[in-house]
Amino acid sequence: MEKIYQELMQEAKKISENTYSPYSKFPVGACVLYESGKRYLGCNVENVSYGLTLCAERNAISTAIAQNEKTKIKAIAIYSPKQAKCMPCGACRQWLSEFALEDGETKIILEDDENKLLVLSLEEIFPSGFKFEK
Ligand code: THU
Repeated sequence: MEKIYQELMQEAKKISENTYSPYSKFPVGACVLYESGKRYLGCNVENVSYGLTLCAERNAISTAIAQNEKTKIKAIAIYSPKQAKCMPCGACRQWLSEFALEDGETKIILEDDENKLLVLSLEEIFPSGFKFEK
């Protein structure tokens, strides 16, 4: 798995270069891996009306849905050149939980300030999230 996580992080780094973040100057990239084996990329997209900003994680997940992805999220790598261990915001945690593995074992892959990977689970960083039976 370590090798795959490294690959996801490399892709998150690369896509972070495509950011549109002239206001915060805080680029973020995300690469999400699904059970299907497919990967989707996203970067943050800001707006002059600041509250309309789209985070990298939600951009990547939206891309997956637009590509007709139907499986669950196995892992997501998130990267910002501005901050080591760049954690997903609350809104993105809720979005991840919508498409996460049932057992909460969806992995969140971050990079520390020594370029080492840190692997967390969604359950760890987003316990007791809002849900109801469809
Ligand atoms: N940002 C993300 O892309 N993902 C997160 O989970 C946290 C924040 C972006 C939004 C904004 O463009 C910039 O980081 C600074 O908040």
